[in-house]
Formats: sequence, structure tokens, C-alpha cells
Amino acid sequence: MKRFISTTTPGMAVGLALICLLGVYAPFALAQKPAKAAVASAHYLATEAGHEVLANGGNAFDAAIAVSAALAVVEPSSSGLGGGAFWLLHRAEDNHQVMIDGREIAPMAADRDMYLDENGEVNRDLAVNGPLAAGIPGHAAGMVHLAKNYGRLPLSESLKPAIRLATEGFPVDEKYHSLMGYRAETIRRWPAATDALLVDGENPPIGHLIKLPDIANTLRLIAAQGFDGFYKGELADKLVKGVRDAGGIWNHADLAGYTIKERQPIRTSYQGYQLVTAPPPSSGGVAIAEILNIVEPYNISTMDDAKRIHVLAEAMRRAYRDRSIYLGDPDFFEVPVRLLTSRDYAAGLRASMRLDKASDSNNLAGFEDSPKGTDTSHFSLIDTDGNMVAATLTVNLPYGSAFMAPGTGFLLNNEMDDFSAKAGAPNAYGLLGYSANAIEPGKRMLSSMTPTFVLGEQRVAVLGTPGGSRIITMVLLGLLDFIDGNGPVSWVSLPRIHHQYQPDEISAEPDALSADQIATLQALGHTVNVRERTWGNMHGVMWNKQTGEVEGGSDPRWPSGRAIVR
Ligand code: GLY
Repeated sequence: MKRFISTTTPGMAVGLALICLLGVYAPFALAQKPAKAAVASAHYLATEAGHEVLANGGNAFDAAIAVSAALAVVEPSSSGLGGGAFWLLHRAEDNHQVMIDGREIAPMAADRDMYLDENGEVNRDLAVNGPLAAGIPGHAAGMVHLAKNYGRLPLSESLKPAIRLATEGFPVDEKYHSLMGYRAETIRRWPAATDALLVDGENPPIGHLIKLPDIANTLRLIAAQGFDGFYKGELADKLVKGVRDAGGIWNHADLAGYTIKERQPIRTSYQGYQLVTAPPPSSGGVAIAEILNIVEPYNISTMDDAKRIHVLAEAMRRAYRDRSIYLGDPDFFEVPVRLLTSRDYAAGLRASMRLDKASDSNNLAGFEDSPKGTDTSHFSLIDTDGNMVAATLTVNLPYGSAFMAPGTGFLLNNEMDDFSAKAGAPNAYGLLGYSANAIEPGKRMLSSMTPTFVLGEQRVAVLGTPGGSRIITMVLLGLLDFIDGNGPVSWVSLPRIHHQYQPDEISAEPDALSADQIATLQALGHTVNVRERTWGNMHGVMWNKQTGEVEGGSDPRWPSGRAIVR
């Protein structure tokens, strides 16, 4: 595996050499449209679903519906109709950019203390397992919104590949099997989930064919009736009954009242590149803007590896501290986006940093935050008109709440755990409660999902990843690698490091750092925690506007992911 930092930019070097050799200084004529389409997702069957819909006359937004629906079938560990998503869109014809916010919301019967036991402690089982852990899903409403406002095809066409996959079946892959190893015991508590996703109550072996006819029926209802097919009528009856029979608190008005929000993306610039990224209720775009503003004057591309990691870690520390205090659902809490993303504010934070010494998080006033749910899914795609979608989808922890309402075929999320379950005390993941992200009826829980576009004069990147609170730093490292001149295969495979304020440490993937780099960082005062496992599952695409070429990259950490250019 290559080391953390890539300061070489082979593509740029070859280009510059050619320019010098040929004496060509005038800019090349820019190709107006991508020569081909590219789809990169966490599952080869979902990537193929996107291409199938493009081949049948769909645009990028139809393809995004197809990929979202296919992932909901073949990767139930990570996203699904019982979960939520952010779809970041770029429409080429008018440069319209928007984030479709299909985040889950707290049911109207939710309250701030709903997970506290008689001693005032958080009941972790209720908070993550079973129907009480589930927010009202937004995935289905998001697909309907995409089709109605941005697609070319009816839902009956864009949902066709997913309906086929659910009906004919798909083979269990390494990710399904591996993550089910952690969740099968909980899934066994609920008969509908057991029947659908286990075999004779056991984790199915790799290669076993899973069929999900109830999801196929649900998708047909959505195709025929749009929003009402999921949020009203027969399916809503099954969801509400199933949830309430198992101790949950949903009612029909929660489902019928679910609304998609169109959000203005966070926009910032870095070294001549424009970033378009996720706004609240994601914390990702604000944190990335803050980190880039802090590091920009250092010219980190030319620093040696350990120094660059030190500067990035110090910036991450400060941005994650702000994340823990100031970020929440903007419809409920006034998030100071303009302040947090301003260069003046970053200058103030930079003034507290030293190049020769690590800071101490305990000296930065604030609250703790720590890694959270590590499951979720991301895909990136571009069509031959230059329309682009970066979408991150989630059920939160692997296999969400593990609960399935009978007759529906899909698991419900456990996204309620992305709220702070208790004010002022850490939950099982080390999170402290605070009002910006406290539970309130109808509120969206704070997310780290960060679908992102990076727009340069000649090259454009579409990227994102799952990975809980590490999503933000993974996207940051990926986009810095792009800005350094590298392509998507490099961004997605780059070894990862992370700092998030508390715990006060740089965590690193195995082999991400050399012994010398670790020693240098320790000498600066950092605690370096080399983890046993890798993290994330990034999928990106890149368009070179100069040549018209597109490329895709799929994270090598999980083998089912696939980037296909066609
Ligand atoms: N459930 C992961 C996130 O939204 O950040």
C-alpha cells in the first residue's frame, strides 16, 4: 500500500513535459462533454444498474435512482429503503447545484430523554437495536423527488434493475457476510428480518443467493404511486403496525408528513479549485471548508509527510471541536455556517497552532466527539452531458436497527443514534450531548455524510465515502490528492489518517505511516494510534474537461465495489 502522502503528480508532470517539448503554451480547446459515462459504487450490480438506465435513455439523475435502489437491495448492511441519503447534484445545462436532503427525521412522539433508563443512563440497546432506534426514512422520498424534478425516465424504468435484483436474487458477498457476523444475533430477534436476510437463522455463506420479494413489491408500489406508494396506504400500514407491535412509536402522520429538503451546498475554494459539498444537517461541508481555510497558507503539498500530517491533524482537531458544538439541523438550530467557513475565523484558529508542537484538545473549550457508526454507502457518477451526482446513503450501523416490519423486505435504520441521546454525558460511542443536536420531534439528526464535487479549470472530481465521523477526513484526503494531480484510483486507495479532537490522537490505518513518520509525530507531542483495521469505502469519478476523458475508482478495501466507464 502506498504511504499516506502523494506529492508526485505524474499526470501533471507528463503534461508539462509535453507542453515544453512541443512549444505549446496556448490552452487546449476544452471538450464540452464527457466522452463516456462513469459510475462508481460499492457494488458491481448497483454500478451496472446505473449504466443500464443510462443506456436506456436516462440521465445521471435517473442513474442515481437506479444505483440508490439497487444498493438498497444488494447492500442491506449499508443503505436501504428504511434509511436516508444526501444526493448532491450538478445539472450541466444550467449549472444548477443542489443537495437533495433525504435525511431521516425523529418521529413526532420522540423526546429528548427517550433512551434514558430510570437511573438517567442511556439504554444503548434501545438506542441502536429495534424500531425505537429508527428515524422516519427519506430514501424513498428522495428517489421520487429526483425522478419528478431532475430525471428523464419514469420510476418504473429507473427502478427496474433493482426490482429485478430483488426478484431474481443476488449472491452474498464478503461485506454482507462479514458485517452480518456482527449483527446476526440481533437480527434473530425479529422474525421478518431473520427470514429475509439469514438462512435457517444463520449468516448465509458467501455466494448464497438472496431474494427479497417484499422489497420488489415495495419498489413496485413506489414506481406506481410515487411518494404515496411508500408513505401512505398499504406499505405505511405495514410499517406503522410492524413498528408499534415491536415497541416503536411511529404513526401514520410521521410517514405522510415526511418532506425532502433542497439545500444550498457549502461552497468554498482551495488553491484555485471550487468545492461544492454537503451543508447542514451534514457536518461534513462546514468541517472541510474550515480545515482547508486553516491549512491553505501552509502550502501543505510541498511539506514533508510528517509535517503535513501534523498540520492537517491540528486543523482537523479544531474543525471537529466546532462540529461538536455548533452543528445540527438548520431548521431547528441556527448553525453559524458563514462564520465557521470564513477565512477570518480560520485565521484565528490558525493563530493557536504551532508547527513544532501538537496542541492539547483539553485546552480547546468544547465537548467530546468520537467515531460513530461505520456503515453507510457512497456512489459517484457522471453522464455524457456532464450531469453529476455524488450520493451518500445510510442506515447508520451495519444492518441499521436490525428490525424489519413484516411484509416490507427492508431493514429500518438506527439513525436516531446520530442524535445526542443525553445532554452533557457521553453515550456508548463517547459522544457528549449538546443542544444543537438534541432529539426533538420532526428534527433531522446531524450527519457526517459528505458527498462532494471539486471543480477545477481542467478537471472535475466527484467523491464521497461511508465511515461515520471519519467520512469528513477521508473526503478531505481524497480531494487533496485530486488537487495534487492524482486520479480516482489514487484517492480511493490512499491510506488514511484521522484526528477528531477527542480522543486526542491521530488514528492511522495499518501501514499508512512509516515508523519514521510515527516517531516524528510523537516527537511533536501527538499520540498516534495505528488501528488494526482499515476504514471507509470510497468511490469516485473524474472528468478531464480538456480531453473529455472520464475515469472511475472504487475502494480496494471491499472487493464488491466497482467503477465502470462506458
Ligand atoms: N449515519 C452516518 C452519518 O450520517 O453520519
